[in-house]
Amino acid sequence: MSRRFRPAGQGPPVLVLHGPNLGALGRRDPAHYGSEDLDGIMARLEKLAGALGVTVEGLQSDHEGELVAELLAARGRGVAAAVLNPGALAHTSYALRDAVEAAGIPVVEVHLSNVHARERWRHRLAVAPAAAGVVAGFGPASYELGLRAATALIRSSGGANSAPPDPPGGLGPGTRR
Ligand code: DQA
Repeated sequence: MSRRFRPAGQGPPVLVLHGPNLGALGRRDPAHYGSEDLDGIMARLEKLAGALGVTVEGLQSDHEGELVAELLAARGRGVAAAVLNPGALAHTSYALRDAVEAAGIPVVEVHLSNVHARERWRHRLAVAPAAAGVVAGFGPASYELGLRAATALIRSSGGANSAPPDPPGGLGPGTRR
């Protein structure tokens, strides 16, 4: 299964990637993941994106290869940074780790739960060494903190895809690009 969330907001695009089983949020193990579903989380991020001056778009996929392809294509189509919850792939996937490394944009890894306070096998993070940083344990707020971190990285890099939105009404008289 996979599902896309259309771009919302204005400014440099931030791609939000949700890995396997995160489409089941809201009914999946609420003791660890809470009761909010993916729509709720994306709605929070859309609201925050408006305040931060970035655009958010999303993909939830249960397929490792689709997440890899999305990361590798991101920079070429103008994405400035990504927020990634790899789900259980965080603990196992060298393919996803290599894709984060090859993406050429900052990637912030997020987890709803504090993976370090759970089973031992969740303590090992295979993708994280390639990420710009990791936020874990704050429920849906982990995503919001991740988006803030991604925005800060975009602003400090001044890189290819980091331009802020044009002012309303376009460029003023006498302004040149
Ligand atoms: C998770 C933590 C992972 O260990 C787990 O497999 C998930 C969700 C989190 O957001 O807390 O699917 O990434």
